[in-house]
Amino acid sequence: MRFLILIPIWLSLSGCGGVSQLDLSASGRDRWQRPDDVVEVLALRPGESVADLGSGDGYFLPHLSRAVGPEGRVYAVEVEADLVEQLTARVDEESLENVEVILGTYDDPQLPDRELDTVLIVNTYHHIEERPAYFARLATDLSDRGRVVVIEPNEELSGVLGLFVEEGHASVQADIEAEMRQAGYRVVESTDQLPIQIFVTFEREPPAVH
Ligand SMILES: C[S@@+](CC[C@H](N)C(=O)[O-])C[C@H]1O[C@@H](n2cnc3c(N)ncnc32)[C@H](O)[C@@H]1O
Repeated sequence: MRFLILIPIWLSLSGCGGVSQLDLSASGRDRWQRPDDVVEVLALRPGESVADLGSGDGYFLPHLSRAVGPEGRVYAVEVEADLVEQLTARVDEESLENVEVILGTYDDPQLPDRELDTVLIVNTYHHIEERPAYFARLATDLSDRGRVVVIEPNEELSGVLGLFVEEGHASVQADIEAEMRQAGYRVVESTDQLPIQIFVTFEREPPAVH
């Protein structure tokens, strides 16, 4: 029975960033990435400001763009100039009018200060260097209710699902949480809704009252 449930996942797992490449189509990825469920868990509201940090080919952009609506703003951040070009073309072709593409640097996403309600980081956490310093700096880009959401291949998966996670392109949830604590954040939500990825939300730790 368990084997039968795993077959559709096996056939559809794909993508970059730590997930074995078996089905490279976006619709194949939808089956395990579940972007509509992700957006539902995020409960994005019209008018909010969201960043897709390490946007890649912009897989999440149409979903985020729809969720925040015409009054909202989506920033697609990439450090690779050729990906910035591709993202800009995609945004034009798909008329994603509330999306702005940003060429970030490895230590600074170049986002506007104190604006972001949500920073979404999918399959990219393990790429970021000097993470405690990076995320401490990123806190200055968050709005008062701002949060950071990390969706990351789970290095601790065992059994058949573990076969889909590439060594060196995944993380351990306790390590993410420890690094984020060091950067001044705390966990507000964690869900096991995605089959091969950690899905955890952080907010800034309020300053201690003396
Ligand atoms: C594995 S891909 C994930 C792309 C996309 N988030 C997705 O899930 O389809 C990781 C992306 O992060 C980008 N990246 C790496 N380091 C980064 C950094 N410090 N800031 C922003 N993007 C970064 C890479 O160029 C790459 O496109």
